[in-house]
Amino acid sequence: MLSLKNLLATLACAGLVAAQSSSQFCDSASGICFQGYTDPEMDVTMGFVFPPVTTPPSNEFIIQLIAPITNGYTGISLGGQMANSLLFTLWPYDNEIILGPRWTSGYVLPEPYPGPETTLLPSSGINSTHIKATFRCQNCTVWEAGSMGSGDLTSFTVIAYVVATTTEPSDPADVASVIQEHDDFNFFGLDLSQCSTLVDVDSTQFIIDINLEHLGSTLVDIDSTQLIVGTNLEHLDC
Ligand SMILES: *[C@@H]1O[C@H](CO)[C@@H](O)[C@H](O)[C@H]1NC(C)=O
Ligand SMILES: *[C@@H]1O[C@H](CO)[C@@H](O)[C@H](O)[C@H]1NC(C)=O
Repeated sequence: MLSLKNLLATLACAGLVAAQSSSQFCDSASGICFQGYTDPEMDVTMGFVFPPVTTPPSNEFIIQLIAPITNGYTGISLGGQMANSLLFTLWPYDNEIILGPRWTSGYVLPEPYPGPETTLLPSSGINSTHIKATFRCQNCTVWEAGSMGSGDLTSFTVIAYVVATTTEPSDPADVASVIQEHDDFNFFGLDLSQCSTLVDVDSTQFIIDINLEHLGSTLVDIDSTQLIVGTNLEHLDC
């Protein structure tokens, strides 16, 4: 099978004209609308919502990842390729969502990557068919040797995703587990200019409540809810 590495080399020559592009979809469970894409063959959905673009820019956003529970793991690359990108792996274990950041400098097993902070939001869960992780991702726009949209949060960027349909992580209880190479992958173009939103004071209350509930009283921090405060549930454009 063509590897992600080879595909990207091919694309670098061909340009990204044939790539699928993001559009808006709304998650009825959380009320959040995302800019993203569903792969009809892999049955993987990925969505993004960003706070309004500010100077300096916020370093956080919300990601939604939905995949079949039958996958050994599902992965996403915010840099559009495996190397030098912020990656996330996701799989279910014992009805728990196992989600974590990874990174690699080359085409070898990506290792867990300290720095990005993920907080699962309430619409996350596992049912009989799918695992769904809706997570706040803090310190996620810049990583070693790369950044979201190459530093321009109003640009068009490539998001890559992978699935391992036949092999499970060797120790699925551990987010740092060794994983085998994915057996399928693809990518889409994410229009970051469509991802941020206007503030609506009324509709932010819901999100703030979510944070208070799920971060716990010790972690409540007005500053760290900036992303959430900037997210408008009713008029979300993303
Ligand atoms: C943010 O993430 C980077 C890795 O991308 C890490 O080096 C840095 O310590 C993190 N910053 C904070 C405040 O956690
Ligand atoms: C399981 O969750 C997925 C993702 O939210 C949803 O599309 C699907 O309909 C759900 N399946 C069942 C059986 O409820």
